[in-house]
Amino acid sequence: MTRVPKSMALYERALQLIPGGTQLISRRPNRVAYGVSPIYAVEAKGARFRDVDGNEYIDWISGIGAILLGYADPVVDDAVKEQISKGTMYSVNHELEIELAEELCDCIPCAEMVRYAKSGGEACAMAVRIARGATGKDLILFCGYHGWHDWYLAANLAEEASLNSHLFPGIEPIGVPKALAGTALPFPGGDLMALAEMLEQHKGRVAAIMMEPLRSEVPAPDYLSGVQQLAKEHGAVLIFDEVSAGLRFGMGGAQGFLGVTPDLAVFAKSISNGYPMAAVVGRRDVMEPAARMFISSTYWSDTIGLRAALTTLKEARRRNVSSQLWKFGAELKSSLNAAAAACGLSAECIGIDVHPAMHFKVPGEMRSEVTTLYIQEMAKRGCHGYASFYLNAAQGSSELEQTTQAAKETFTIIAESIAANNVASKLECSLQKDAFRRLVR
Ligand SMILES: Cc1ncc(COP(=O)(O)O)c(C=O)c1O
Repeated sequence: MTRVPKSMALYERALQLIPGGTQLISRRPNRVAYGVSPIYAVEAKGARFRDVDGNEYIDWISGIGAILLGYADPVVDDAVKEQISKGTMYSVNHELEIELAEELCDCIPCAEMVRYAKSGGEACAMAVRIARGATGKDLILFCGYHGWHDWYLAANLAEEASLNSHLFPGIEPIGVPKALAGTALPFPGGDLMALAEMLEQHKGRVAAIMMEPLRSEVPAPDYLSGVQQLAKEHGAVLIFDEVSAGLRFGMGGAQGFLGVTPDLAVFAKSISNGYPMAAVVGRRDVMEPAARMFISSTYWSDTIGLRAALTTLKEARRRNVSSQLWKFGAELKSSLNAAAAACGLSAECIGIDVHPAMHFKVPGEMRSEVTTLYIQEMAKRGCHGYASFYLNAAQGSSELEQTTQAAKETFTIIAESIAANNVASKLECSLQKDAFRRLVR
């Protein structure tokens, strides 16, 4: 008997009508505790949402990273509603495009010019087009996940397992033209020598080096400046994908936090608090040639996303959101670490404070079971998440308290079942499937 019968029934219906059941792989129910975790939401406010079965949860995934200020933020939503009352898009342009570009150029170190899109993957594809167009070269060297488009999945045409350590195993490039084989090659994050060797091997052919500058850990000192130097030496455009990192690290994004300024950067998700919006920003000499490239789409001028992004940026600055998240993340980590110690569980909440994650110190073959049990028991106690945490500014002391209490109970169950060697028998669901595995240091 499932605890989420309405979610399960809806998912059955979805599978009949929607190939794969969901639009985003991270929303597939096998990413969490299938049959225990919620699959369908009806509403969300602040740090919490309610599912179709009437359960309330603290959302530790924050809309897969898209929610920065909190769900249904009144300031952003009021601005959007006012915009809707004036019409959302026109046959001509709107000044908001320029205002948002000015704001982004004020915030983001590399931003001198800006183009818009609606999703992270789309903006990554745009950045790649601009880099190829500006350099006249074709090859992309990349590290990490950058969306679903052909340019990226082409990496798995050359060698089936290419993306295994960058995305998640088993992604097949079905439907990606075979002619693209060899046009995008992954490099291992954190290994400057390996990147230097690849650049030598493909000398004169590399249009761009594309990477997430960081996600859950700060890169080793000098790594990113080393990448920057190599890009410069080889005439390749350095692109930082900040779709998931974004404004959580500060108003200057991850690049501002790390002090390394790329040539181009991609932002989406957190810049507009859940409304569809993305931007490619970058240095004038790299961006300007885009004027002659065919990069054009009707909805990129939609004023809902523009208004939401402009208001989110201003509110994030006014409320000093990033500092709040750094402080809150540190508190969350220390509360969970104290809870694990009190329960005698060998586990640690690790990683950068704005993007912490639970690490269970168990043998590799047990990790998947323990992680699934953690997700399952936390869900039963009103905490929805993976083993990692996406913070937003609506999370506060009541979320911290409830989550710490839920973790104490969950950690006790895990510790006891490890001691009794019966973790699997505690699972009320199938094993959770690996979340995105990203090569970022
Ligand atoms: C680093 C990174 N790039 C690109 C994307 C793709 O963004 P979207 O899902 O909005 O297309 C994601 C999504 O998780 C991401 O984390």
